[in-house]
Amino acid sequence: MTSTADGTGLDAVGTDIVGTDDVSLERELDQLLAVERFDPPPDFVSRWYRPADAAAAAADPPAFWAEQARTLLDWDTPFTTVLDDSNPPFYRWFTDGRLNVSANCLDRHVAAGRGDKVAIHWVGEEGERRRVTYSDLLADTQRLANGLKELGVGKGDVVGIFLPMIPEVAVAMLACARIGAVHNVVFGGFAPSAVRERMEVSDAKVLITVDGARRKGRTAPVKEAVDAELGDLKALEHIVVVRSTGIAAPIREGRDVWYHELLERADPVAPPEPLDAEHPLFILYSSGSTAKPKGILHTTGGYLTGATYTHRLVFDLDADSDVYWCSADVGWITGHSYIVYGPLSNGATSVMFEGAPDYPDRDIWWKIIEECKVTIFYTAPTAIRTCIKWGPQYPGRHDLSSLRLLGTVGEPINPKAWLWYHKVIGGGRCPIVDTWWQTETGAILISPLPGVTSTKPGSATTPLPGIFPALLSEDGQPVTEGTGVLVITKPWPSMLRTLYRDDERYVQTYFSRFGRDVYVVGDAARLDADGYFWIIGRIDDVINVSGHRLSTAEVESAIVSHELVAEAAVVAQSDEQTGQAIVAFVTLTGNQSGDDATIAELREHVATRIGKLARPKRVIWADDLPKTRSGKIMRRLLRDIAEGRELGDVTTLRDPDVVAALAGKVAQADADE
Ligand code: PRX
Repeated sequence: MTSTADGTGLDAVGTDIVGTDDVSLERELDQLLAVERFDPPPDFVSRWYRPADAAAAAADPPAFWAEQARTLLDWDTPFTTVLDDSNPPFYRWFTDGRLNVSANCLDRHVAAGRGDKVAIHWVGEEGERRRVTYSDLLADTQRLANGLKELGVGKGDVVGIFLPMIPEVAVAMLACARIGAVHNVVFGGFAPSAVRERMEVSDAKVLITVDGARRKGRTAPVKEAVDAELGDLKALEHIVVVRSTGIAAPIREGRDVWYHELLERADPVAPPEPLDAEHPLFILYSSGSTAKPKGILHTTGGYLTGATYTHRLVFDLDADSDVYWCSADVGWITGHSYIVYGPLSNGATSVMFEGAPDYPDRDIWWKIIEECKVTIFYTAPTAIRTCIKWGPQYPGRHDLSSLRLLGTVGEPINPKAWLWYHKVIGGGRCPIVDTWWQTETGAILISPLPGVTSTKPGSATTPLPGIFPALLSEDGQPVTEGTGVLVITKPWPSMLRTLYRDDERYVQTYFSRFGRDVYVVGDAARLDADGYFWIIGRIDDVINVSGHRLSTAEVESAIVSHELVAEAAVVAQSDEQTGQAIVAFVTLTGNQSGDDATIAELREHVATRIGKLARPKRVIWADDLPKTRSGKIMRRLLRDIAEGRELGDVTTLRDPDVVAALAGKVAQADADE
């Protein structure tokens, strides 16, 4: 899957937003920019929101969450303890309860007579269709659960999953959940070396992958690439291979097994294992401020409560009639919570699309929406901006009248893109939910509620019931209006429990700045006079490219691992298309000077070390980097240089001339572009 692009399915495209071809649309959007707030459409009545809920959640948050957990989920053993907060920040929810996530996502719907209902409408790259019902999913999940047991996987063992967007990815996750194995999904766009790192640090016992992955008409071998990187991993005992494309895949006798053969010989019945509410459900590696990715750990009861509750409420889900589509990749938290667990737990019908948004043509998303009669569509701002660039003629080819609700996630949405989404895709009638959350939060925390909250383009608006965000100044004082550091002041069920095998880093990263009971998000935000949150962006060394988190340190270490490179510093530059883009300042070894071919080589090197999405957009050759007298690289100055801003204080630099030289180079490069 090295050939797959980022989680929105977008390949890198140019950066100019040329607006639309349609002058009157452009004018209309410009006029709409003056509208500060959009009231909920009068005919849109929220199915699930009760004003009393907000009051109940405010009065007694644990009691409110207990009520959600009890009503939304089936428990094998009901819990009596709601929240154990005796040892912050190691919060535990519903501790003495037992349940199984796969039973909640599958068995209970089948038992209620909804087995024939389509769970996943799968759309392949070449237009192939698969209708996977709840009964189908349950049957395969049971067989794979038994197959995994046959391979020696037990409760608490880690299973890696490196699969493209095919229904088997959901089966793999659910089969793990069924037997209490902990899944560790790696985004298909990551390079096999990134898969290796994630398997190694989590001691994965089994990896479920695929023969090959399709991308825009081409097929890339995956199993072969995986073998080259992971062949010698000690803890990895077996590799299960899904036959998806038919491309040749090496199978090592004794270690590797075909998925279909494993399922064929497995017992069809695998009763779901009742698991403690705090039993680990999955690890998902995400970027932090060091080169080492953070293994974010989510557990069973609290996570499923959050995913189920928010999916139903925020998307106003009517499981009987809606067709829901989230265009993210399962390899990200958005895919975990809003492609797999939330929708399946709620018994929804979803679309799952294998391909890219511009193959075979740039109207493929809108064609799918028309053909599958999608009612709820959830995507990323960067995808919307790309569609704007392509022009309204592509959605214009299709009847999008089935849509009734739109969502965005992953990065701030600029008001113009919001308005285009609202007008061109939503026909001016669909509420937009700009959902703010993170891998760590497990579920949406700040978002408008459709039919309830007035929206302001660019603002994620207000917290959901039971969630208590606040802004603090640098010295920890509450900010009631203005900008500050975003924190969450009370625990919530779907919060991460720790960083896998690194409790200390968990405390240090999230709970050290303002005390052990204040979760520090890592974002800055603005709070307006109406109490609306406007997310500004990350305050740590994390870059958000097209809604994907990348750590500067991770990209830097990939660059310096190239033999020609002496030193590298990576910063973010704002980018109209991708939100932020990666700029790398690079010093080469010896007296070498870089040229375009070296830039191409470095970008390719990063692609093979991390994945295509981490390739720097710009590489600036530097004779030296701005450093303090103690040798620390001043990234703040590099950011100023990249953005063409007035330089801040340079007096602490060892050699102040370095920045002037770099600024000159960047200005020259800008002029050349
Ligand atoms: O900076 C925020 C941004 O994405 C970060 C979380 O990234 P990740 O863990 O990869 O999860 C992405 C999908 C949930 C946040 O710290 N972010 C996410 N949603 C929004 C956002 N920024 C602004 N508005 C949003 N709606």
